[in-house]
Amino acid sequence: MAKNKITPPKTVAIYIHWPFCLSLCPYCDFNSHVKENVNHHDWKKALILELEHYSKIIGARKVTSIFFGGGTPSLMEADTVAKIIETIEKYFSLVKDVEITLEANPTSSESKTLSSFSKAGINRVSLGVQALDDESLILLGRKHNTEEAKRAIKLASDSFERFSFDLIYARPKQTKTMWEKELKEATRLARGHLSVYQLIIEPGTPFYLSQARGLITLPNESLSVALFQMTQEILESVNLPSYEVSNHAAVGEYCKQNMTYWHYGDYIGIGPGAHGRITLNGNIYATRQHRAPEMWLKRTEMAGHATQTFVPLDEEEIINEIILMGLRTKAGVDASNFYLRTGRNLKEAVNVEALNRLKEGNFLTSDQKGIRTTMAGLLRLNSVIKELVSF
Ligand SMILES: C[S@@+](CC[C@H](N)C(=O)[O-])C[C@H]1O[C@@H](n2cnc3c(N)ncnc32)[C@H](O)[C@@H]1O
Ligand code: SF4
Repeated sequence: MAKNKITPPKTVAIYIHWPFCLSLCPYCDFNSHVKENVNHHDWKKALILELEHYSKIIGARKVTSIFFGGGTPSLMEADTVAKIIETIEKYFSLVKDVEITLEANPTSSESKTLSSFSKAGINRVSLGVQALDDESLILLGRKHNTEEAKRAIKLASDSFERFSFDLIYARPKQTKTMWEKELKEATRLARGHLSVYQLIIEPGTPFYLSQARGLITLPNESLSVALFQMTQEILESVNLPSYEVSNHAAVGEYCKQNMTYWHYGDYIGIGPGAHGRITLNGNIYATRQHRAPEMWLKRTEMAGHATQTFVPLDEEEIINEIILMGLRTKAGVDASNFYLRTGRNLKEAVNVEALNRLKEGNFLTSDQKGIRTTMAGLLRLNSVIKELVSF
């Protein structure tokens, strides 16, 4: 497909990846590694070098959000976090209400450092609680128990105006009664934002092997659907409706960083394996940094960055990504934003027959403003998207 010239957005989000963890969880396929004696000085220097490299490519833009993700970025030294934020302030301008999030694990030792991150400039934390049930935390291979998770939530709520925590449901052996109790407990502890992910068995993980050997069994489809619907109902009843398939928040508490991804804004990815989307010279580029931590460090020390991919996306790829991301959200794919990012009308860019069929089946709604998924559509999101962009 021929491609229209695309104007770069005036704002950008920045993601920084810290790849190290204390131990590996059996369900996780993120870029996470266990390493003793991390040389924090070298890592700080390299992360700053890569940031400087991208700042030269991007030029002056307003930063709306910064996200330290992992791995376990609460294992970073607070000084590294502070220096990275200072570097971003030096090369870019920050919007007044910039959101600066750090993902943190709730073990007691990591919780102790939460206030030092607040002093370093972090203004929002996202805690990896995962479950409020000790047996499930052991099954998930977590290093914390329920009491530690609750203490970490209390500390986060004392140190930060904004915080969120993550839960994983549809776990092996989980019943509706168990999840209802846990979720209601979560609503008493949450403030403004909660992320609730359905457990995905990722190929190559220990859980994948255990499932193949019949050692763990996930809830069947009808139980998974019931757990999803219960999640929507309980969280809606306490003013935490979903604004994306796995994310729930009160109005004004949406995670800005994630909103940038889902609404297809520009973002820079720094650190091992980090991805980015950057609009330059009328193109949208997909970027990816070298994934292996030691190789990333070596290359960044030598060349100032460890970029492995920097390729312009073609129009079809851009359209598919915008639809894939947008339909995950309650707001859906916004027609005017779609036009800005592609130069094309949304309704002309999708399969109109499929759109009408999906609307008749009550999987989608659409009007002048854009296209949105219904609850039934959210439950079959992958097949809805596939149909909508197939020609
Ligand atoms: C990559 S983790 C990083 C946060 C932190 N290291 C932790 O584990 O708490 C981000 C979130 O992704 C979610 N997650 C990771 N793997 C998952 C899986 N296989 N299925 C569902 N959720 C998953 C977890 O809720 C986790 O908090
Ligand atoms: S879930 Fe979090 S702590 Fe566990 S291995 Fe993945 S990134 Fe590390």
